[in-house]
Amino acid sequence: MASSNFFIILMAIISSTFLPNALSRSLMISSLPHSQILNVSKSIRNTVEVLSPKNEAIKQPQQPLYSLSSSSSSSSAFVVSIHPRSTLVKPQHNNYTSLTLSRLARDSARVSSLLSTLHIFPTNFTRLDKSVQTEELETPVISGTSQGSGEYFARIGVGEPVKEFYMAIDTGSDVSWLQCQPCIECYQQTDPIFNPIDSSSYNRVPCESPECLALDISGCVSDTCMYQVTYGDGSFTQGELATETVSFGNTGSFSNVAIGCGHDNEGLFIGSAGLIGLGGGKLSLPSQIKATSFSYCLVDRDSDSSSTLEFNSAGPSDAAFAPLIRNSKQKTFFYVGIDGISVAGEMLPVPESVFRVDDNGRGGVIVDSGTAVTRLQTIVYTSLRDTFVKYSQHLPATQGFLLFDTCFDLSSMKTAKVPTVAIHFSGGKALPLRAENVLVPVESSGKYCLAFAPVDGLSIIGNVQQQGTRVSFDLANNLVGFSRDKC
Ligand SMILES: *[C@@H]1O[C@H](CO)[C@@H](O)[C@H](O)[C@H]1NC(C)=O
Ligand SMILES: *[C@@H]1O[C@H](CO)[C@@H](O)[C@H](O)[C@H]1NC(C)=O
Ligand SMILES: *[C@@H]1O[C@H](CO)[C@@H](O)[C@H](O)[C@H]1NC(C)=O
Repeated sequence: MASSNFFIILMAIISSTFLPNALSRSLMISSLPHSQILNVSKSIRNTVEVLSPKNEAIKQPQQPLYSLSSSSSSSSAFVVSIHPRSTLVKPQHNNYTSLTLSRLARDSARVSSLLSTLHIFPTNFTRLDKSVQTEELETPVISGTSQGSGEYFARIGVGEPVKEFYMAIDTGSDVSWLQCQPCIECYQQTDPIFNPIDSSSYNRVPCESPECLALDISGCVSDTCMYQVTYGDGSFTQGELATETVSFGNTGSFSNVAIGCGHDNEGLFIGSAGLIGLGGGKLSLPSQIKATSFSYCLVDRDSDSSSTLEFNSAGPSDAAFAPLIRNSKQKTFFYVGIDGISVAGEMLPVPESVFRVDDNGRGGVIVDSGTAVTRLQTIVYTSLRDTFVKYSQHLPATQGFLLFDTCFDLSSMKTAKVPTVAIHFSGGKALPLRAENVLVPVESSGKYCLAFAPVDGLSIIGNVQQQGTRVSFDLANNLVGFSRDKC
């Protein structure tokens, strides 16, 4: 018994000495701080202020905070502002709990919709944890104009003369569209509804055009290409496909960009005029303007600050880079190469294969601007939670909240020491998440929960974990960069 244990330890020492991967990984982990400080007072103040009625004008587009790369001189950079949903549509909630409930309902609908595009349907309840059951039971059936989606909005110009619109930004879909007059059905939006008659650059797209053929769902009416986009949860937009001039503040514009002119828009995206598809497919905005890269920074969703969406400006050079991986079965999603996740310097004991796309196009990890809470394969989630709990004994635990099974009562604290959750990318770089990306308030009384949840089929890095980090998609070099505090 003792000698066989000794043998195992000896083998472990030998393998960690001679296997370069294991060695470099253990060095890498020890170089990360094991905890992050959560400013509880500040975050609680935000939960109160986000609900307080105030009518500040939305800030105008700002210039990038870091200098644009000289390598982008051949193609110039385009910059527009991004705002969190709460600045555009004042939350109609009288307390933070009910705001959280509506955000989580939207988030479940979003995840179902992403999974349905991969033909992955939620598995039987019986096979899942109790926490997953709760999530499934809370998933609303979205119908009509009951909900809004899109958590972040960019200010984009359409037509000539230019009219500007708040459009939801979405890395999980390709087709850009906006509500268009005459409306068969249009939901409420902040800007006046676009009218093609007022734009000299508006042109219908013929049915046999490459843009029309690139649509997943299309139709043809008097040689005009009709589009439809459905979001998997009952919501959809349909109308005619057109080419238009799309402009980015005073930084430039592109003519002949194919966008949907939606006459019938039902379900999601309340507040915004439409959506900008930032996915990897042919019809996405980056593909159509042949952008070599794009980047965004999502500010704290409870704040009224803004940041930028930029095209063709190289991201910050200090970014932690991950390989950008494409799935031949699903061109829209941006997958990232991940080898593992650590908590407080301890690598989770899960095989690297749980982060990979399999031969059937299932699995893998995507970066999504539209999903809030990061979803991890159930075995990864369980391991993350258990390790997090092990290193959080100093925080007072409290009961769960909807899909969150790990919550803490921080009401008596001004700051809290939170174990570092770090994502380890293939290639050796790691991204230690900020404390705000790990524990989120669910009530303004000081209840916080671990903002991760289990899923089957597709892991998703959500926007709660991306907040405060500039995410750059280097399409020319197939890299995704993450830079903390570069907003
Ligand atoms: C927490 O945030 C508040 C408001 O921004 C700031 O005044 C305070 O110094 C911060 N506390 C710590 C410990 O960083
Ligand atoms: C929050 O608001 C909801 C609906 O308005 C109400 O049912 C609930 O009791 C409130 N919760 C708290 C903690 O005030
Ligand atoms: C799902 O549940 C149904 C009914 O409870 C059962 O018949 C079926 O075998 C289950 N499928 C899987 C994949 O577990």
